Amino acid sequence: MSALWLPGSPAFEGVHPPDLLWQPVEESFAKDPACSVFLKTLSRRFGAYAGLARLRTSHPLPFGYYRLKQAEGELFLKVVTPAQAERHLAADKVAQWLNVHGIATSPVQESIVLDDTATLLVQDYLPGRFCAQNRQEMQCLGRSLGRLHLALQAFPQAGDVKARGMARFAHLQARLLAWQKGGLAIELPDEVMAVLRTYPADALQVLVEEAQMVHGDLNLGNVWMAAEGDRIQCVFLDWEDSLSAWFNPMKDLAFVLERFVFTHDLEQDAHLDLGLAFLQAYYEAHHRRFNHPEHLTELLQALAVRALLLLIEAAQVAHKPLSAEWKKFVFLYKLADQQRPLLQSILCQAAESALNSSLPPAIPPPRSHSKS
Ligand SMILES: Nc1ncnc2c1ncn2[C@@H]1O[C@H](COP(=O)(O)OP(=O)(O)O)[C@@H](O)[C@H]1O
Ligand SMILES: [Mg+2]
Repeated sequence: MSALWLPGSPAFEGVHPPDLLWQPVEESFAKDPACSVFLKTLSRRFGAYAGLARLRTSHPLPFGYYRLKQAEGELFLKVVTPAQAERHLAADKVAQWLNVHGIATSPVQESIVLDDTATLLVQDYLPGRFCAQNRQEMQCLGRSLGRLHLALQAFPQAGDVKARGMARFAHLQARLLAWQKGGLAIELPDEVMAVLRTYPADALQVLVEEAQMVHGDLNLGNVWMAAEGDRIQCVFLDWEDSLSAWFNPMKDLAFVLERFVFTHDLEQDAHLDLGLAFLQAYYEAHHRRFNHPEHLTELLQALAVRALLLLIEAAQVAHKPLSAEWKKFVFLYKLADQQRPLLQSILCQAAESALNSSLPPAIPPPRSHSKS
């Protein structure tokens, strides 16, 4: 049995989230017994509210995301299983701590048990949208992520995060080695085998070199551009992975570059332009740097291999065939190789502009956290 925490189904499948579609909750919703408990709990807790809408996702009812309109503002509600709620609430300590240390997050305000299968988590609804593929927003994200990484260096329980993260890393790396030596009791698609057979297990180490606590899952759905009048503020959502997210901070950056830039169909030169805008803004906010031209490719390939290993782990635990998500990670693994010249250009140009500006040079990060 795996000792690893394995992520459940994400809010949105695929590499990019779809357009958000909020649908009003109809009266027929109450006919479903589980939904009726949910609605009664809402009335008991919030009185007569002005409206309720559900986000269209693939979650079975009543699980998923809701917006509850009240006279004094709007709430964002999540209905999750008790196990998910426990994990959300544990991770929410990170979101709360960051919020009081100047980083925008959306902490849980309240949790309400609906029954023994479902729990309701209540947050403020933040009007906003996903990050757009333009220079201004990529700069905003780069700056905010630099500040976030700086702040996380002082997180009081970082020692626990390191212990969990390194144990998780060692487990996955050992699985890869064991598999390469003796095979696994699971049938894998040829393309997955081809990646895992040739990937040197030592190369995974790039993920945890000079590590610190990071967010750990900065996909497009977990970064929210909240509108504040005519300003936008970058809010980091979904801290679930952060409890074991002990990585080289460049891993968060590599993931952002992959999900927010390289996997988008953009005009020629736009990938370089947006990647640079993001990276330069990060470099202005934090002293950490990609430290050689191949660094980004190495991190992206290590990330794809790690994701495949997690999928294999999940399949083994559930005694099910490998989820079809493997296609996404084989694609991303190959993409990192195909885009090698672009990735090198971004890193070299960002390093050059940091050198030519008054930015402090990269300084070595602290070797270990004081608590670890
Ligand atoms: N406080 C909020 N206000 C408005 N929308 C939110 C808020 N929190 C989350 N969302 C929306 O819900 C989606 C899923 O939220 P997230 O916290 O990432 O849930 P999960 O842990 O299930 O992935 C986000 O991508 C965003 O669109
Ligand atoms: Mg999410």
